[in-house]
Amino acid sequence: MNGLIKIGDATYRWLDERLGITGITKATLLHPVPKSINWWYVFGAAVLTAFTVQLVTGIFLAFTYVPSPDHAYSSLDYISHHQFAGNLLRGIHYWGASAMVLLIFIHMSAHFLTGSYKYPREMQWLTGAVLLILTLGMAFTGQLLRWNQDAYWAIVVGAEQAARTPIIGTWVAQLLTAGPAVNGQTLTRMYAIHMLLLPGGLITFITVHIYLVIYKGASEWPVPGQPVDPKTYWADYQELLHTDGEPFFPVGIWRDAVFSLVVILTIGALAIHGAADIGIPANPTTPANPAPDWYLIWYFAILALIPPASTPYVIILAPAIGFGILFLFPFANKGERNFVRRPWAIATVFIAAFATLVLVYMGYKEPWKPFLVNGSNPPQLASKSLRTTSGQALTPMALAGAHLMTVEGCTACHLIEGVGGQRGPDLSQVGDRRTYGQLIWRIARGGGGMPSYGNVLKPSQVNELVTYLETRVTPGQAISSNPGG
Ligand code: HEC
Repeated sequence: MNGLIKIGDATYRWLDERLGITGITKATLLHPVPKSINWWYVFGAAVLTAFTVQLVTGIFLAFTYVPSPDHAYSSLDYISHHQFAGNLLRGIHYWGASAMVLLIFIHMSAHFLTGSYKYPREMQWLTGAVLLILTLGMAFTGQLLRWNQDAYWAIVVGAEQAARTPIIGTWVAQLLTAGPAVNGQTLTRMYAIHMLLLPGGLITFITVHIYLVIYKGASEWPVPGQPVDPKTYWADYQELLHTDGEPFFPVGIWRDAVFSLVVILTIGALAIHGAADIGIPANPTTPANPAPDWYLIWYFAILALIPPASTPYVIILAPAIGFGILFLFPFANKGERNFVRRPWAIATVFIAAFATLVLVYMGYKEPWKPFLVNGSNPPQLASKSLRTTSGQALTPMALAGAHLMTVEGCTACHLIEGVGGQRGPDLSQVGDRRTYGQLIWRIARGGGGMPSYGNVLKPSQVNELVTYLETRVTPGQAISSNPGG
């Protein structure tokens, strides 16, 4: 027994001499933290836990996933339905992503409310802001890897809208899609970003972020009425650690451990039911109603709600401004930390959270039909719109289409013979400028402020609508033939 201990001792000393284990352990695990840290501080570790879950499950998914348009969907289908525990694996990765995004926002809010981004922890906040961007990038690129209808059309619509941004739009869109269209090259690009670029960035920035926690220490719980003064803060903090600190391990770490365990168990419990259904494979010829996952759908909802003419300015500029503001925080690095003395900070968090919830709800309340002022009563077509533009009676099919124009709320956005809304183009003479195929495509697919009706209307109804719209031509002009009958 004694002999064993001696061998163990000698081995440790041999390794320690070469690796510096004791020094590192002292600096990382045993560094002192203020006794006042509490449950508000557990979210950072929880984000790290969620990230680790994503890293591990991501590697296992990558063993089977094939990043090509022909096989991406079917390889995920295989994982979900045939591979041993595959559905659980995908489920964990799916819910893990949601957990990570959610926890990051909570982590940010907690440290925003306690003002711990102030001196001398500004770099903590800045690296955190970068981590937020990288994480949202992971969420976005991950969805596309499913290569199903929703993911495919979400990026088609996203890129199409981004392309309308003045000056940089086309460039951004092409950067996103790796070319003029969404195809296999796009998938390869998203795969490389999701598997190499962003994880590399995340690991790098997480390392710096954690290094800073150790270097600048965990912030003490802010006492109202004790503002941060960069001149005295650091000396006071050292004094506090000395008189009222405790080693991070084991007294500081237990809350982190408990909460991280709760996070893992929750992800696991949700994952037993598997990930969201992967839907149907991407099909570039059949438009869908694109819907991103919840952590991006609020942004889609904003784009659907703003006036279409402003989309080109909002789609890239709004996130740029939003993230830009995060990078301005270090300029406000003095003063009160506790939220009871910063009511506007509480207001900001509540308004942001509430707005996000409302927008997520609206995003799911698909399709993005307009809210009609008087309920289900959009403008009724004028009686002259119920005849062809040259005054003949409409065919029964065209008449059914005219009826749908009102029922489906098309007239809330479109003018026909002076009746209707003005959000979309006037359709009084749309038959002059659009072919049957173009009209089908437009209605089914939407985009540019026009809701997509592909999943809402039956093909026969789209056909009726288009048959009607084709009667809207300059009087005297021939009605183009209708291949649909
Ligand atoms: C929320 C408002 C809104 C609703 C509701 C709406 N549209 Fe649109 N629609 C638009 C906008 C905006 C555009 C312009 C899109 C663009 O710029 O590409 C458009 C474009 C179109 C076009 C192409 C017009 C052209 O000149 O090329 C057609 C056709 C069309 N919509 C038909 C319909 C039909 C049919 C319905 C009902 C099923 C409908 N829309 C409902 C907003 C709407």
